[in-house]
Amino acid sequence: MAAKWLKDAVFYEIYPQSFCDSNGDGIGDINGIISKLDYIKELGCNALWINPCFDSPFKDAGYDVRDYKLVAPRYGTNEDLYRLFAVAHEKGIHVLLDLVPGHTSEEHAWFRQSQKEERNEYSDRYIWTDFWLHGAQGMPYIGGESERNACYVLNFFKCQPALNYGFLHPQESWQFSMNHPEPLKTREAMKDVMRFWLSHGCDGFRVDMANSLVKGDDEKKSGTSMIWRDVRRMLDLEFPDAAMVSEWSDPKNALRAGFDMDFYLNYGGVNGYCTLMRDYYYDEKHDASYFKKDSGGNINRFLGQYLDWYEDTKGLGYISLLTCNHDTTRPRFGLEPDELKLAYAFLFTMPGVPFLYYGDEIGMRFLDVPTKEGGYTRTGSRTPMQWNRGKNLGFSEADEKDIYLPVDPADDAPTAEDQLKDPGSLLNTVKRVLHLRHQEEDLQADAEFSVVCSEPGKPFVYRRGDLLLAVNPNSGEVHLELPDENRSVLFSIGSGEFTDGQLTVGPQSFLVLR
Ligand code: NOJ
Repeated sequence: MAAKWLKDAVFYEIYPQSFCDSNGDGIGDINGIISKLDYIKELGCNALWINPCFDSPFKDAGYDVRDYKLVAPRYGTNEDLYRLFAVAHEKGIHVLLDLVPGHTSEEHAWFRQSQKEERNEYSDRYIWTDFWLHGAQGMPYIGGESERNACYVLNFFKCQPALNYGFLHPQESWQFSMNHPEPLKTREAMKDVMRFWLSHGCDGFRVDMANSLVKGDDEKKSGTSMIWRDVRRMLDLEFPDAAMVSEWSDPKNALRAGFDMDFYLNYGGVNGYCTLMRDYYYDEKHDASYFKKDSGGNINRFLGQYLDWYEDTKGLGYISLLTCNHDTTRPRFGLEPDELKLAYAFLFTMPGVPFLYYGDEIGMRFLDVPTKEGGYTRTGSRTPMQWNRGKNLGFSEADEKDIYLPVDPADDAPTAEDQLKDPGSLLNTVKRVLHLRHQEEDLQADAEFSVVCSEPGKPFVYRRGDLLLAVNPNSGEVHLELPDENRSVLFSIGSGEFTDGQLTVGPQSFLVLR
């Protein structure tokens, strides 16, 4: 059972480097986040996911953790983070930190010890082979970097050695079984990290590469799932309100492994999620994203995958739809603000717990900038939040040349301040939708969902509890006969009506009907 507070939760993801710089050093910080909590609350978000803010050499933007229990000095101190928890809680905002359980930085003290030839407490904390010339059987590995006469397995970049959780069916002398005391110590060490932050006031974790713990023949993820169920038991006993969202994108497995939520990510080529708003990834000549006006996109490409997951996981936890995240291209890359209004209205009225990536609420652009801290093509989605028309668009008082990444140089770069003043802006539309979601239980995480009409050429119509919702992303008006319904428009973007058993949805419009 998922944590109760998630029913009405709407998350705001913050990339701390780029959100708000409170001390003028050119990089975002914890105090900057605290100063913007009212903005986030007024927007309609009542929960945060903060990307890793821990001590790190930042070769992968902080996903290479050097000390799990220490806030990176560039963001502030542990006390600042504890204060963030407290102030957020006063405002009714929950806070998830980012837990990176699959690997550490190569500069982590555990790894430094593990690299030594002489046996010590951390020798088996990572996955090592038994000889400097022995690779790791299909797993990426590094040799020649350590005094230790062995190679070590990687989890992602070269700077991220894989932690050792054991193997489901060990096949080599250097592979431990999952129940061996050494991999069990890794698991306990990760629980210890979780306890540390939870006991200081954090409300749970977004879990990085949650499916990556057990290597080798864990294709069905039964080994990895066993570990997470064990972690869940600990949380249920010690921190029953804690919530966990997995980077897994396989809710059938993730929710059964004890996660409260699993992200629906852009994995596996053209998947359902991509067909909503980023179909151009796969066919530049014909972007058939559903929310792109007159693209010929078909919502059934999304529903085909989503409905199977939804039906299979009902009652177990939530599928989390997101506007984007720090790894994906901003939705503004393919969609115009009027298209984004509909896309977001849809995402925020679906079942489960939605996530909004900072800056997507104003339609920030994906910028063409050089790679930073291992971002590569992801860097364009990680540029500073654009608050107002001031210096560096309100992000930082530092010199332009000293800021973490450049802000959007365009004259019409969107800013929060401008959009707050414009009733029809994307930002104010997001606000209206989110406020409606908080008002109407039928739009929240648990209320029933079913599809009424998904036929091309008609409005896409779906039910949430007793409410009926309709979307038309195209430029022509569309109609649907619904003789058994008796409804009035409760909320609209664009135009539409319900008269004499007929639903009309205007061009690029979204309706909620009661
Ligand atoms: C997924 C994170 O979202 C990404 O940013 C990171 O590079 C990898 N995991 C490795 O931790």
